[in-house]
Amino acid sequence: MSTISANVKKRADYQSADFTINKVNLEFELHATATRVVCITQIERQGNHHRPLVLDGESLELLSVAINGVAQTDYKIEPDSLTVPTELDKFDLRVENIINPQENSSLEGLYLSAGAFCTQCEAEGFRKITYFLDRPDVLAAYDVKIIADKTQFPFLLSNGNKVAAGDLPDNKHFISWQDPFNKPCYLFALVAGDFDLLEDTFITQSNREIALQLFVDKGMLDRGPHALESLKKAMRWDETEFGLEYDLDIYMVVAVDFFNMGAMENKGLNVFNSKFVLANSETATDEDYFNIEAVIGHEYFHNWTGNRVTCRDWFQLSLKEGLTVFRDQQFSADMGSPIVNRIKNVRVIREHQFAEDASAMSHPIRPDEVMEMNNFYTVTVYDKGSEVIRMLHTILGKQGFLAGIKLYFERFDGQAVTCDDFVQAMEDANGKDLTQFRLWYSQSGTPNIAVFDEYDSDTKTYKITFKQSHKATFDQQEKQNLVVPIQFSLLNSGDSQQHTLELTATSETLEFKDVGTKPTPSLLHNFSAPVKLSYQYKQSELADVMVKSPDDFARWDAGQSLFSKCIHKASGLTDAEGQQLIADTVKYFEEVINSKDIKDDLKTEILTVPSFESLFQQADSVDIDSLYKSRKQLLTQMGQTFETQWNNIYHNKTKQKYAYNQKQVEQRKLTNLALKYLSLGNQTLAKELIKEQFSSCDNMTDSLGALAAAQTCDLDLFEGLMQRFEEKWHSDPLVLDKWFSLHANTDRHDILSRIELLMSHSQFTINNPNRVRALVGTFAFYNVKGFHNLNGSGYKFVADYLIKLNSVNPQVAARVITPLIQWQKVDKTRQELMQHQLMRIGDTQGLSKDLFEKISKSLP
Ligand code: TRP
Ligand code: ZN
Repeated sequence: MSTISANVKKRADYQSADFTINKVNLEFELHATATRVVCITQIERQGNHHRPLVLDGESLELLSVAINGVAQTDYKIEPDSLTVPTELDKFDLRVENIINPQENSSLEGLYLSAGAFCTQCEAEGFRKITYFLDRPDVLAAYDVKIIADKTQFPFLLSNGNKVAAGDLPDNKHFISWQDPFNKPCYLFALVAGDFDLLEDTFITQSNREIALQLFVDKGMLDRGPHALESLKKAMRWDETEFGLEYDLDIYMVVAVDFFNMGAMENKGLNVFNSKFVLANSETATDEDYFNIEAVIGHEYFHNWTGNRVTCRDWFQLSLKEGLTVFRDQQFSADMGSPIVNRIKNVRVIREHQFAEDASAMSHPIRPDEVMEMNNFYTVTVYDKGSEVIRMLHTILGKQGFLAGIKLYFERFDGQAVTCDDFVQAMEDANGKDLTQFRLWYSQSGTPNIAVFDEYDSDTKTYKITFKQSHKATFDQQEKQNLVVPIQFSLLNSGDSQQHTLELTATSETLEFKDVGTKPTPSLLHNFSAPVKLSYQYKQSELADVMVKSPDDFARWDAGQSLFSKCIHKASGLTDAEGQQLIADTVKYFEEVINSKDIKDDLKTEILTVPSFESLFQQADSVDIDSLYKSRKQLLTQMGQTFETQWNNIYHNKTKQKYAYNQKQVEQRKLTNLALKYLSLGNQTLAKELIKEQFSSCDNMTDSLGALAAAQTCDLDLFEGLMQRFEEKWHSDPLVLDKWFSLHANTDRHDILSRIELLMSHSQFTINNPNRVRALVGTFAFYNVKGFHNLNGSGYKFVADYLIKLNSVNPQVAARVITPLIQWQKVDKTRQELMQHQLMRIGDTQGLSKDLFEKISKSLP
């Protein structure tokens, strides 16, 4: 393995900056290969010391350094810094340098996306633009002047308000921007290009008019309205739910095609992956519509939770991300179906966050050690971070939580603070001791909650015991007891109340008197804590919870447990025994599928068999082949047993013109599930329905529903339809990503040569993260049989690709490697094959810090 001097930064080593920056004056003269940057800053020494000024910088060509107008020569340039000796306490620094956006394939710093200039500075990308104190606790006001060719780049955008514009010689022009709010440099943004512009206005609760501007690629105007509508909903929602109003007079959103993540909350100028902006009924699925609303909300909510109050250092990332994910989840729930949303959140936790906890990348929501910050934009920091905020919300109640938020803004507006500052505000506003609760920030791993009960029919007493235990994780041996809020109720007990236990000790027993019959506990309502909970349910008891619980989440969860227990058990039985168990289990779902009372949104979720990924996380070690096979058998049985019902559901759908609304979304989801089951239960019938649907539907959700059903039903049919799809959409890369993705998770023996072929498609390029994720990412994460092929070919294929991607885009490579480092639960043979590939990647010349950190952690 290549050796990179393991430069680990520790949370405990935090020190405030030696200097601060009060004012930033930036000038850009844009050029594809040689952009000139002039950065003038007012710098002030902090405290009493004589240390020189050390600025961060990477891949910069320095032209000159001046202090108070005097050119300097005794500075020192290193690969990642510039040291300027000075004894002055307060001075103006002028740095001039050249950067090459065209060569920048990392998509961090200033780069070109399909001809447009754009920036991505979080977490530490500003140092690829100019020498600077690139840390979130240095906040300043920015003035930015952008100069570029007027024809090619009519729009020149940056944060804040436009203050000047004018023409220059040689067909150039300039525009100047001023951001009145102090910000850390990670929130800086610049965009230059030619776009189509969609405009609107929003009137705030205090009657201020905000200009809303959405910039999209030329010709994409008709795909913009949903994002703009979502933005207005988010702005209104933050006012009514949190009392938070937008602060600048203009809010800009730019959609770009080349982007490493979902979107970025730069002050007043959000930059989005176009996947999370562009939608119309023909090109976008219901899921796309949902995601756009969620991501637009997320970035907007950052304006207060992230921008007005920001992070002191990057170890505190969950301060803004956990809280903002919680806010966007609440927003989505309010805009649509609360139960579907909650299930969605929980699936992410169980499929991906639990996997991270069980891997060598395990870390607390506030990490203690980081080599490459980009590696810590994780499901743990984001999604478990949100669950921790949700637990505070549960423990303090809505009013208490809002009081804490209010105090948080009163205390910290305009500052860079820590997770502990946040909890302190919650504590002070509520007079509640959160000492033990704080351990959620420092402890990694998934807690286990074991539940036992006993019923005494003589004394009519019911006792229920909750016990917490914590396994060591890769990063942490010692664990402590956490505060675990557990919401539950007792079915068949005459007590219809929901109880909340705040479990703090190792074990706690609750006693209920005058209980007429032995109750069945309905546990962990609404997934009140991010834990694995176990209770020895009989199948009939789970069925009882599934149909009777007052909590919709618990109903769904009981159904999922029925399915998963059956699959795990069947995978260890003979074929005949397994089939019998599966057939018996499926019968419990008859009441659900026939029910007139269960609403369609919940019904669809209950009737959906757990994903392979979530089944995988439930066991300590997994026999991949038999688990896969049992799951498939269960799916088939669901299709066959309820063929009549699926057929009825399918044919009961009402034909109507596409609209993205709650009712239609639910119906499409249910009928496409029915089609999928029919494709397992009655192939002949399904084939006809699939062809019909594919040809006649007016929207992308149903097109993809047909394709997905064909994929399980008949590969020849699938191939034919996929070809038609490609003919229609070959010049639309965002739509084609769905096609790449479907190909990549197809179960076929020649999958690798198929993917190879797809990589030569004219729309595929290793430089675009969306393409790479759609094809290689989908294969690695979701093509169980292909990726885990016992001959090791799947692992090798991914490794070969990552070796190439390492030099193009380290951030994306480090994401796609995730399934390869999660070898802990698979059999020995596969473990060795995976580790062998990790070692091969580790030997790559010029291995990035991003990959090095993950590989070195995960090799035994
Ligand atoms: N702050 C962004 C968000 O969650 C995340 C993000 C966007 C990001 N682009 C990035 C993080 C690039 C790291 C690198 O909304
Ligand atoms: Zn975010």
